Amino acid sequence: MCGIVGYVGDRLSQDILLGGLGRLEYRGYDSAGIAVVDAEGALHHRKRAGKLQVLRDDLQAHPLADGNIGIGHTRWATHGAPNDENAHPHLADGGNLAVIHNGIIENFAELREELLDAGVELLSETDTEVAAQLIGREYARTQDLEQAFRAVVTRLEGAFTLLAVHANQPDVIVGARLNSPLVIGLGEGENFLGSDVAAFVEHTPRAIAVGQAQVVVVRKDSVEITTFDGQPAEGEAFEVDWDASAAEKGGWSSFMAKEIAEDPEAVENTIRGRIAEGTVHLPDLESLSEEYFRDIDRILLIACGTAYYSGLTGAYALEQWSRIPVSVELAHEFRYRDPVIDDRTLVVSLSQSGETMDTLMAVRYVREAGAKTISICNTQGATIPRESDAVVYTYAGPEVAVASTKAFVAQIAAIYLLGLHVAKVRGTLADEAIAEIAEEFQAIPDKLREALEEHERIATLANWMSDTRSVLFLGRHTGYPIALEGALKLKEIAYIHAEGFAAGELKHGPIALIEPGQPVFVLVPSPRHEDGLHAKIVSNIEEIRARGARVLTVAEAGDASVLPYSDEVFAMPPTSKFFEPFLRVVPLQIFALELSTAKGLDVDQPRNLAKSVTVE
Ligand code: F6R
Repeated sequence: MCGIVGYVGDRLSQDILLGGLGRLEYRGYDSAGIAVVDAEGALHHRKRAGKLQVLRDDLQAHPLADGNIGIGHTRWATHGAPNDENAHPHLADGGNLAVIHNGIIENFAELREELLDAGVELLSETDTEVAAQLIGREYARTQDLEQAFRAVVTRLEGAFTLLAVHANQPDVIVGARLNSPLVIGLGEGENFLGSDVAAFVEHTPRAIAVGQAQVVVVRKDSVEITTFDGQPAEGEAFEVDWDASAAEKGGWSSFMAKEIAEDPEAVENTIRGRIAEGTVHLPDLESLSEEYFRDIDRILLIACGTAYYSGLTGAYALEQWSRIPVSVELAHEFRYRDPVIDDRTLVVSLSQSGETMDTLMAVRYVREAGAKTISICNTQGATIPRESDAVVYTYAGPEVAVASTKAFVAQIAAIYLLGLHVAKVRGTLADEAIAEIAEEFQAIPDKLREALEEHERIATLANWMSDTRSVLFLGRHTGYPIALEGALKLKEIAYIHAEGFAAGELKHGPIALIEPGQPVFVLVPSPRHEDGLHAKIVSNIEEIRARGARVLTVAEAGDASVLPYSDEVFAMPPTSKFFEPFLRVVPLQIFALELSTAKGLDVDQPRNLAKSVTVE
């Protein structure tokens, strides 16, 4: 969950490293540092607790010597508090070696003991410094950074991406990865390294995703990839399909505000070409035969956080359309209970980053158990899609704010694409039914644009509610996971107690929480649907209203039945039942954004969180 960047070329590395760290700051932002090697072969470094700006200010006030090669790091603390000492880079070999690290070295305690017994003085509490000292000791023996890396990486357990530079080899960056991402950016007479392509996309779109358990040796005009034991290896080359401006804030007050406004394009781009001529086209799934889809008897969706809620949301339509039982599991819970899986279970992972360690481990687990896996992912070249049998990319564009928004709607769209594909292959939906769904699907981006028109009214409400200590969310059917997602958004970025409930569960306990003035968002389905859910939820509204709740309703435009019981109504365009969650979530995303803003909090970088959770 830390961000890592490297540069070697003819330009001054410091500016490039700071630029890359700026784009990676979403991965962690409790401290940052850089190391550069100058033309005379001296290593210089600076590291500071706090956000990247603290480091930038420090470097401006006390510039480092210039150099054309360097590494940089932005941290999300695992071992040791976020202070200057624990910030990366960590030095070894008499200050000539600088090492940065993303991940957790699980056997670090025993390695640390070994170093302490050998009389090595450790200056930090981090697992990274242990790796740095081990590499430093090997360097002292071999005088070669690559060899030193090879000797050490096979001793490390857990997850790591390591990058290092050494003063005596001022033309080379050596890196290695295991269970943690590393991507190389290929330039002309210069090369880059990053935790993801955001680190260097402003300089080059040409990238190579480094494979599992590989070592890379990067010079300005060459890139060498080998396995840990020195066999030649290849990474996966790809071209980044978005440019740096997509990851800029533009004129927006925050990345989150910009990304919510991009909900419509996230869905539009995800279905473009895949929903056409009244049907679904998913060449992405060609590697899985039609026979395979006919044979599966169960679909399992695995994910964490917001991606898990997208799974819960998408599961309703997926099961309905495919007539295959669908279950949704939290990746970190699921694999520890010895689940029953076989080759007729299709496992679909959902991950914006494609690097979430809990999800990756669950994917590996089910593949070993014989199941095929499809990755629904928003990040090209990420580990989870590369380790899956097929991938359906979402095209939400880079999501920078820690709180996920546009990726959420894009994930639901991708689950629906999969559902239509399976239904088409298995014949569980008639062509006319698919055509009808396809038509509504294509209308969703415009309806999302309409939903966004409520922004100002929601902002006014949020401003008015800036002292609120607790908010509840109620929904039924697909409204239930949307209630959970609304509550998560609020906890994450506004730091207030929030809970989502299935409205039917209310009378089984949670209604005791209702007291006069308690704000409750209620997600109301259309009265036009013939499932009776609208009447049921109106009864739930009456129940909480009778106990003094302040009722904030998200309902279909023109639904007069909720007016007498609502303090506020946010009107959403009409759509069919399974498409309502796309629209119902929008006001909740905006509410969290605006409440956090009203409280003067950092919307994009909430405390204690990082966007890409690459530790278990
Ligand atoms: C919430 C949020 C997290 C992520 C979760 C999974 O706003 O962003 O809950 O959804 O950590 O991340 P990915 O989708 O990258 O696997």
